[in-house]
Amino acid sequence: MNTSQSAWTSRTWRDRTALQQPHWPDGAAHEAVLEQLSSLPPLVFAGETRELTDRLADVAAGRAFLLQAGDCAESFDTSADSIRDRLRVILQMAVVLTYYTGVPVVKVGRIAGQFAKPRSSDTETIDGVELPSFRGHIVNDVGFTAEERAADPERLLTAYHRATATLNLLRAFTKGGFADLSRVHQWNREFVATSPAGQRYAAIAEEIERAVQFMSACGINSETLTDLRQVDFYTSHEALLLDYEEALTRRDSLTGDWVDCSAHMLWIGERTRQLDGAHVEFLRGVANPLGCKIGPTATAEEVIALCEALNPERIPGRLTLVTRMGATKVVDGLPPLLTAVKESGHPVVWTCDPMHGNTFTADDGRKTRHFEDVLAEVSGFFAAHRFAGTHPGGVHLELTGDDVTECLGGGAEVVTADLANRYETMCDPRLNGSQSVDLAFRVAELLRNGTH
Ligand code: PEP
Ligand code: CO
Repeated sequence: MNTSQSAWTSRTWRDRTALQQPHWPDGAAHEAVLEQLSSLPPLVFAGETRELTDRLADVAAGRAFLLQAGDCAESFDTSADSIRDRLRVILQMAVVLTYYTGVPVVKVGRIAGQFAKPRSSDTETIDGVELPSFRGHIVNDVGFTAEERAADPERLLTAYHRATATLNLLRAFTKGGFADLSRVHQWNREFVATSPAGQRYAAIAEEIERAVQFMSACGINSETLTDLRQVDFYTSHEALLLDYEEALTRRDSLTGDWVDCSAHMLWIGERTRQLDGAHVEFLRGVANPLGCKIGPTATAEEVIALCEALNPERIPGRLTLVTRMGATKVVDGLPPLLTAVKESGHPVVWTCDPMHGNTFTADDGRKTRHFEDVLAEVSGFFAAHRFAGTHPGGVHLELTGDDVTECLGGGAEVVTADLANRYETMCDPRLNGSQSVDLAFRVAELLRNGTH
C-alpha cells in the first residue's frame, strides 16, 4: 500500500509518524508562531517551481545537468559576503561544467532555508552533561549550554526572515549584473585563483571573455541579450520541520495546486523517507519539484514505492533521487536500483551526493571527508549509470566559497593538521572554494567522457 491513494491536505502528515521533530517546551508559543508564519508572504512563486520542474525534466532526459550545492546547515550569522561567495563558486562550477560539456547546468542552492538538521541522537553528552542535540539554527543554537540548546519557536520566524533576505540578495546578484558572463574572470577569488584548479579556471575564463568580446563586436552583448547578464538560480532545503513547511504552503491561484512556498525545491532526508511516514505524506501533496535521499540500505522495492508515492503521475522533473551510497558501495549498490527504476518507467532525475556516505572522524577528532572519496563516489556513480544505461543527472554537494579547511585533500591539499585552521561548519564538513572548482573539472571530465 502506498500513501498516495488517500486524500491529502497540508495537515494529513499530522496523522503519521514524523521523525526528527524537535520538542518545543512552550507549545502555545510554538502554535502562535506557526499562525504568524501562515500569514506571511510566500518566498517563491508557483510559476518558478513549475519552471524548475521543466528544467529538471531536461535533466531527466539527459539534456541538462543538475548542480545542487551549498551549506550543510546555514547559519543565522552568514554575512552578505559569504552568501555572495557561495553563489560565486557555484557559478564558477557551472561555467566549468558548461564550457567542457556544452550541456546547460541547472543551478539549485542548498541555501535560503537550509536551517534544519536531522540528528542521529536526540541528545548529546559532554563530560557527563546531557543536553538536546543541535538541530540547526531554525530550532536551537550550537553552543553547549541548556539555554542555547533549548528549542525556541521564535527561531522559526527568524529562519523565515533570514531566508527572505538571503533570497533577495541572490535575486539581486543573479539578475542585477553580478552574474554577467563578461565578469567570469572576477568570480575567481584570490585564494582559488592561486590553486591549480583556479589557474585552470582562469584559462577558460579568458577564452570565454574573448568569445564574449567577439560576440559584442558582432552586436550581441548583455544589453541586447539578457541571457548573458542573468542566470536562473533556484533555492532548496531539506523539508524537515513539517509544521514550518505546512505554514508556508499556499494554493496557487492559477492552477489550484498546493505549493510549498518556502523554497523552489524540497527534499526528504535519508532518515525521514519512510513510506508511511509524515515527510512522504506531506511532500507528495505539494507541486514543487522534490528530492529524496537514497542511502546504501535502500532496496529497489522501496525506491519504486517512493517513486509511486511521490510521483504517481510520472511527471518528468518532479522527482530527483539523490543517491548517497559511500565510495565503496556505489559501484555494487547503485546499478540494481537504476535498473529497477528504469524498468518501472519512472522518469526520475538521478543525482549523486558524494558527501554523506563518506564522512569519518579524523585523528584530531573532527568530522571530515576526503576529496578522493568524494571523487571516487562520483566516478562510481557515472560508472553505474554507464552500466545501467541511465543518465547521470547531477551532483549534490556541501560547499562554501570560503577558504575553510574542513575536507581533506583536493587541489590545495588540506591535511589533518590543517583542519583546525578554519573549521567553521556547524554540522558537516564542506568543500572549500578551490576544492569545489577542482571537483567541477573532474565531474566535467567524467560527463564529457560519458557523452562523447
Ligand atoms: C544532508 O543533506 O545534510 C543530510 C543530512 O543528508 P542525508 O539525509 O542524506 O543524511
Ligand atoms: Co550534511
